[in-house]
Amino acid sequence: MITLNINGNIRRVDAAPDTPLLWVLRDTLQMTGTKYGCGMGLCGACTAHLDGQPVRSCSTPVSAAVGKKIVTIEGVDHARVGQVVQAAWQKLDVVQCGYCQSGQIMSAVALLQQNRKPSDADIDAAMAGNICRCATYVRIRAAIHEAAQ
Ligand code: FES
Repeated sequence: MITLNINGNIRRVDAAPDTPLLWVLRDTLQMTGTKYGCGMGLCGACTAHLDGQPVRSCSTPVSAAVGKKIVTIEGVDHARVGQVVQAAWQKLDVVQCGYCQSGQIMSAVALLQQNRKPSDADIDAAMAGNICRCATYVRIRAAIHEAAQ
């Protein structure tokens, strides 16, 4: 058994230590807000936080999350910055198909937790690993600025 702290809740799961965190979240715990895109650490759809740092859960073994605070899209609104980011996303109507957006929001929240007033260059650098096939990048950048106010 592996003990995890997810969104402030202690969860015990039966999983091999090298199981990707993404599959523990989605398949074992039915927390499907974290998305599977490429499975190779390339697209950012699976972004979650470990101790406040954004990670690719598809390429993070669950053993790496033991003893850390895991935050997923389901719990991102427990922190005020998560609420503010989600409100900005709604206000600016960022989402098109939506598939990548939970990962986008997780990366945006991590950025704003570390940098309260990011420049365009800061945003582009922090969000470069999150791919959006609908190309919502301009609205994402505007929503991050909105959330930073
Ligand atoms: Fe993890 Fe693409 S699904 S980076």
